[in-house]
Amino acid sequence: MEFSLNSPLDMHIHFRQDKMLELVAPLTAKYFAGGVIMPNLVPPVDSIDKLDKYRSEVEQITSPLNFEPYMTLFFRQYKEEELLAAKDKIIGIKLYPAGVTTNSESGISDLKQADSTFRMMQELGIPLLVHGETHGFVMDRESEFISVYQWLAENYPNLRITMEHITTKDAVEFLDRYENVFATVTLQHLLITLNDVAGGLLQPHLFCKPIAKRPEDREALLEAALEAHPKLMFGSDSAPHPVHKKESAGCAAGVFTAPVAIPILVELFEKHNKLENLQTFLSENARRIYKILPPEKTTTLSKQEYTIPVRYGEVVPFRAGETVSWWYKDE
Ligand code: NCD
Ligand code: ZN
Repeated sequence: MEFSLNSPLDMHIHFRQDKMLELVAPLTAKYFAGGVIMPNLVPPVDSIDKLDKYRSEVEQITSPLNFEPYMTLFFRQYKEEELLAAKDKIIGIKLYPAGVTTNSESGISDLKQADSTFRMMQELGIPLLVHGETHGFVMDRESEFISVYQWLAENYPNLRITMEHITTKDAVEFLDRYENVFATVTLQHLLITLNDVAGGLLQPHLFCKPIAKRPEDREALLEAALEAHPKLMFGSDSAPHPVHKKESAGCAAGVFTAPVAIPILVELFEKHNKLENLQTFLSENARRIYKILPPEKTTTLSKQEYTIPVRYGEVVPFRAGETVSWWYKDE
């Protein structure tokens, strides 16, 4: 049995730089037609020069694979001329509250001070992508941030806002409250809860920000994804770290899912008899929401037992060493 997808998109992906970029970017670009490239490098991508340089580093690797990198800038207060120059080069600007995740130290600490940037983004039609977590108790960080999303949605009604990597029932419910609010969801948050991370022996390769939550949260996310909720897009948040940064005291946050995301999604949607909705979840919703036309690419999988490698270079993937029931055809 085979299953094909037409131009699947990953609307939230960490490509990193240098050797890591060379290792991970092809593992997305082979299978996806495009992806939203996160700007949390060291230092962050927060100027046109850095953006141009990063795009060309990415394109050097991804162009032969017929992949469109949708670039993002790291949020700061920008001047109008900067936004005008950036507008056609980016899909949006990614906002990290200061210090909430990997390489976000230079993020924003008081959103109200950024009013003029939000207003200009709204006028220019530049979407705002948000890592929505407070500095509160780890299980409550996303739910606490909903009031910030509300403030943004109400104050900037024409600003398109994407809640990145949502992990809670609260966020799923919030999606329907404002026309200008959308969301991405990762693979791992459709599959795991905090129990999988820390309920038995600690699993560093499942540790990410935002942390996986409760069973009822996972259920709400899974239901929305399986129905291909029109405001929900797939964004893997595949976030590679070398094994020594994961299997150590002070484990880095991030789950590496790039090469395994599509096969595991096919397995999951098939299990729930919802395969017919996967194309919408993996591509159509994003095309409509962001008004993008990705390169034509067909990704075909066949039903076959496949054992996921234990390593890709120095990175351990999600479900390393486990068997999946679908894999890419001819691989
Ligand atoms: C991401 C990373 O490693 O860059 N980590 C993560 O746990 N998701 C950063 C992020 O998206 O928060
Ligand atoms: Zn991310």
